[in-house]
Amino acid sequence: MDKRLFFPATQRNREFIGDALSTIIKKDGSILEIGSGSGEHGVVFQKRFPGIIWQTSDPDLMHRKSINSWIDFEKLNMKMPPPLELNVENIPWKIPLKLTHSLLGIVSINMIHVTRWTCTIALFKGAGKLLKNGQFLLLYGPFKIGNKHTSQSNYFFDNSLKMQNDLWGIRNLEEVTDEAKKNGFLQEDIIRMPANNLSIIYRKFSS
Ligand SMILES: C[S@@+](CC[C@H](N)C(=O)[O-])C[C@H]1O[C@@H](n2cnc3c(N)ncnc32)[C@H](O)[C@@H]1O
Repeated sequence: MDKRLFFPATQRNREFIGDALSTIIKKDGSILEIGSGSGEHGVVFQKRFPGIIWQTSDPDLMHRKSINSWIDFEKLNMKMPPPLELNVENIPWKIPLKLTHSLLGIVSINMIHVTRWTCTIALFKGAGKLLKNGQFLLLYGPFKIGNKHTSQSNYFFDNSLKMQNDLWGIRNLEEVTDEAKKNGFLQEDIIRMPANNLSIIYRKFSS
């Protein structure tokens, strides 16, 4: 049965996120995506970077069903593994050994502002344990800088998030980067993206 979900934002941002990824995917290996949602990013990036294995994950069963449906629809079953059931707060993450050994980095798109702050803390803690020296963590989404919104649209978006759940909200980049540093990451690059979003590239510098 076709269980594909359609998240409209993925249509608008996937090409730009793919461009950001192309600056850091330099060799073959695996990428772990955290909070993959519908799976639309996963199949697009798997097709764009045929040398890598794109490992999706999500704690939500409906999302994992959608990811499997997208993999079937795009006939990527021979290449892409099924999604992992991964909640960042359940540390240590249960990751197949094969994936651990071939990992190039971790990608998480539009996750940290649509979860509570403890998920951001857990994301870096889990990633810090899993990743080795030189491997990357790419975050994509809206951020505040110096505790200020970078646009009026982000301000309105932040308010709408908080109305849905008062623990959600656009994060302050400096506080996110503090969590990264606590877990052995350096902030390597900030890439400005359309619609007032950023891609932040963190690099693990201690194993
Ligand atoms: C706003 S959606 C973004 C989905 C997708 N990355 C995208 O950009 O379309 C946030 C995703 O984070 C997932 N999520 C929520 N809590 C999580 C957690 N504790 N650990 C990992 N993922 C989580 C949700 O199930 C959802 O798929």
